[in-house]
Amino acid sequence: MAITGSTGGREGWSSRTAFVLAAIGSAVGLGNLWRFPAEAGNNGGGAFVLFYILCVVLIGLPVLLAETLIGRHGQSSAPESVRRLAKESRASKHWDVLASLGVLSAFLILSFYCVVGGWVFYYVGIFFSDLVQTGITGGAFEGRDPAEIEALLPGLFGNGPLMVGLDLLFLAVTYFFVARGVSGGIEVMAVWLMPAFFFLLIGITIYGAFGGEFTESLTYLFTFEPEKLTGPVMLAALGQAFFSLSLGVAGMITYGGYVGRNVNLAGTSAIISGADTAVALLAGLCLFPIVFAAGLPANAGPGLMFQTLPHAFQSMPGGSLVGILFFIMVSVAALTSSVALLEVPTSWMIEKFKLTRIVSSALVALGALALGSLAALSFNMLADFRPLGFIPLFAETNFFDTLDGVTAKLFMPIAAILTCIFVGWIADQKLIDSENGLSGGLHLFWRFLVRWACPLALAAITIVGIFPDLF
Ligand code: PHE
Repeated sequence: MAITGSTGGREGWSSRTAFVLAAIGSAVGLGNLWRFPAEAGNNGGGAFVLFYILCVVLIGLPVLLAETLIGRHGQSSAPESVRRLAKESRASKHWDVLASLGVLSAFLILSFYCVVGGWVFYYVGIFFSDLVQTGITGGAFEGRDPAEIEALLPGLFGNGPLMVGLDLLFLAVTYFFVARGVSGGIEVMAVWLMPAFFFLLIGITIYGAFGGEFTESLTYLFTFEPEKLTGPVMLAALGQAFFSLSLGVAGMITYGGYVGRNVNLAGTSAIISGADTAVALLAGLCLFPIVFAAGLPANAGPGLMFQTLPHAFQSMPGGSLVGILFFIMVSVAALTSSVALLEVPTSWMIEKFKLTRIVSSALVALGALALGSLAALSFNMLADFRPLGFIPLFAETNFFDTLDGVTAKLFMPIAAILTCIFVGWIADQKLIDSENGLSGGLHLFWRFLVRWACPLALAAITIVGIFPDLF
């Protein structure tokens, strides 16, 4: 059922709220809960956080609007939506490359994202067995040596078959929702799980605020020390803003394709990016008080969530219960994002090869399992395999990091730059204006950002991504 029936017979979101929740579900994920606190911790806290917010407002939000409007105008899969807008603007249909690149990136990200999703499932299991042993009120892992708790992650990494099995499990759950369709699966999931997610996040933040070092975390996350704002920190913030808002992978073009004409895209994009940023900040305010209360460092990077935090839960009252709730919350966030990642190539295959949704999504998921297995094994059996070793940028990167690096450093920014050029310069501006829901000064400001500020800033990340020694 489409909102206005304008989706040309295609299935669409059943309400604006459903679209907003699904888009927030896509944006809010491991990027907010796992990557954002880790990046903030590694890049000195406040300077990173404040620059991140600036990037969301000035670059993320305008690109988000550009992507959703292409989708809504085309009412199709992402590449077809671009082709339609290009045709009506009398531009080359080859602009669809921006969306095809996005579809490819979504597939590649899906492949490694589900591997990390598998780790989250594993920790749900670990905390569950701990809860059974210690009971609801106990701290996590009572009587166990902290080194033993931190060794759980390397222990998992050393077990190739378990990693592949967990990847398969996470992909299977993702597939279950996508195969059921837009309103019957993806939407049902978003509408039920996103509110539950917010409830858990706020609950755990309050728990951290009472039991942990809340003021220290506030100071850490929001004290702006200008000398810490270096080039690499700014680029890390920009890249993070992009990943977190799910931009440059045709995801928001795809989700926009299921939106009816009565939805104001500018307002909706503002809600989506506001919610995504709020979750990232809350994730910081939820995690750091607990970590600081245990006297642990903020800069453990990727290990912050999987090693530092479980260790910190040991000394918190009820840590065992809160631990399992925390990892359930992360699983929910990761699933609503992996569903978006699977939907992007699925909708393209349905249209291109006239396959059913069940078959298309199964084929994409199987492909992602194949690549994901290699990514999972790159922590153990294939640790020395360098798939793009002949390219200097990826000379030292294993399979997992290559998937991440190729998409984050190359494909996503390139697709986003092309999106800005297409929407800002190439497409018929009357069509664009009829879709964006903006007027007056705000409209002029958005156009300026899409034409100049966004592509130039994005070009900067891409260049520094390719030539890291420039800074
Ligand atoms: N934005 C998601 C996150 O923060 C990741 C994602 C990227 C999802 C691209 C969909 C598309 O985890």
